[in-house]
Amino acid sequence: MFDIAIDENQSKADFYNDLKSSAVALVDGEPDGIANMANIAALIWQYVPGLNWAGFYRVIDGELVLGPFQGKAACIRIAMGAGVCGTAAATGDVQRVADVHAFPGHIACDADSRSELVVPVTKNGRIIAVLDLDSPLPDHFSTEDEQAMVALIGAIANNLG
Ligand code: SME
Repeated sequence: MFDIAIDENQSKADFYNDLKSSAVALVDGEPDGIANMANIAALIWQYVPGLNWAGFYRVIDGELVLGPFQGKAACIRIAMGAGVCGTAAATGDVQRVADVHAFPGHIACDADSRSELVVPVTKNGRIIAVLDLDSPLPDHFSTEDEQAMVALIGAIANNLG
């Protein structure tokens, strides 16, 4: 069991620093990428407010395949370039979408989703997965959320695959 306690009532910057430290501690010394993705999805789900889905899609044989997540059952396979996740994986660019209904090709796995943040996971210069966060709240993710999630993923990416 892991002893993780993050104060959710501190500043967002301090909260995200603690979240990142906990993420690093969770994957430390564990080489299995799927186990680590499972724990990171659970960590984010427990502490980051306003989410209805948090998890990973892995790049396998040129498409995205559903990985460890928390939330409702979701689409299993997504083509590179399709939807928000496929766009992040194909371009390598973070996708921060204020209104998913306005995103061309958005794939609605959960009809409740209104906004989305997708962060590519890069290891040895290759995109091996994406972290997908969905919210039922419109325009939920700020640039601070985006930068914090990019930093978190960057700190643990080597242990995610
Ligand atoms: N909405 C995503 C699909 C994944 S689910 O939201 C979990 C997309 O358009 O890529």
